[in-house]
Amino acid sequence: MKTITETNLPLKRVSSGKVREMYELDEDLLMVATDRLSAFDVVFSQGIPYKGIVLTEISKFWFDYLEGVVKSHIKSIDLPPELQNREEALERRAMRVLRATPIKLECVVRGYLVGSGWKEYQKSGSVCSIKLPAGLKQAQKLPEAIFTPSTKAEIGEHDMNVSEREGREIVGKEIYDDVREKSLAIYQKAADYALTKGIILADTKFEFGIYEDEIILIDEVLTPDSSRYWPASKYEEGTSPPSYDKQYVRDYVEKLGWDKKPPAPQLSDEVIKNTSEKYIECYERITGRKFER
Ligand SMILES: Nc1ncnc2c1ncn2[C@@H]1O[C@H](COP(=O)(O)OP(=O)(O)OP(=O)(O)O)[C@@H](O)[C@H]1O
Ligand SMILES: [Mg+2]
Repeated sequence: MKTITETNLPLKRVSSGKVREMYELDEDLLMVATDRLSAFDVVFSQGIPYKGIVLTEISKFWFDYLEGVVKSHIKSIDLPPELQNREEALERRAMRVLRATPIKLECVVRGYLVGSGWKEYQKSGSVCSIKLPAGLKQAQKLPEAIFTPSTKAEIGEHDMNVSEREGREIVGKEIYDDVREKSLAIYQKAADYALTKGIILADTKFEFGIYEDEIILIDEVLTPDSSRYWPASKYEEGTSPPSYDKQYVRDYVEKLGWDKKPPAPQLSDEVIKNTSEKYIECYERITGRKFER
């Protein structure tokens, strides 16, 4: 399987992120998910087979599922004829979306105490200034899901958690309260659904944008890149459960002793293949559909 790690389309490029490349398409944007993989904010030189397709198809699944809850940026996943059959094989990895003005907040929702949230809780008893009950264990389900946004870092910076007061200062109280409410509602609906598929949605990150005076859901949504998904059967309080996200790759490169500074290390064929399989398994578990290779 040929991987797509970059694209060069005959359209005006708007931006090139760690994973996605955005182009202008008439008044809309064409959002193309490549097979690039990043961990610790560094992009690997090798692609992960099918990853861009999995990210696009999982996002599409969730945008559809959430239709009654939140308006999203998606217009179509059909390619305009002039972009079909290109060398980059854009089929199933490109999405035509409304061009919004991104809101400068990474809208993180946590239903479980894990990762950076767990670290912060151990030090301070709170996460993003939200006080939590004492005595919680690692990976424990929180009494209720919490909204713990962070700044949208510029290139080279890391996202920083913000308190409610800081968040309201950054985007304004009205927008803050709106994206908070939307984020919690989406998380709840998605987590409830995922559980019926034997999957725990531990935490996730949303991005919103403003389009014609309305706040809409943009970017990718509820993918293994933006979310922490655990198989419910392997879940145990007090331990960090295995997940469908990049933890597998993170563990591998940490074992190699990589200092997390660019360039990223080379991944073995086996790690690449296993990572690809994890993404595909996540797609199949969540959507209940067989992934077409
Ligand atoms: N509908 C939209 N309108 C405008 N911008 C969008 C829309 N959807 C997504 N974006 C932006 O496109 C970019 C997607 O690229 P990608 O996710 O690869 O970036 P990234 O490396 O994660 O960096 P970033 O921190 O900017 O998200 C993001 O910056 C996101 O905010
Ligand atoms: Mg992104």
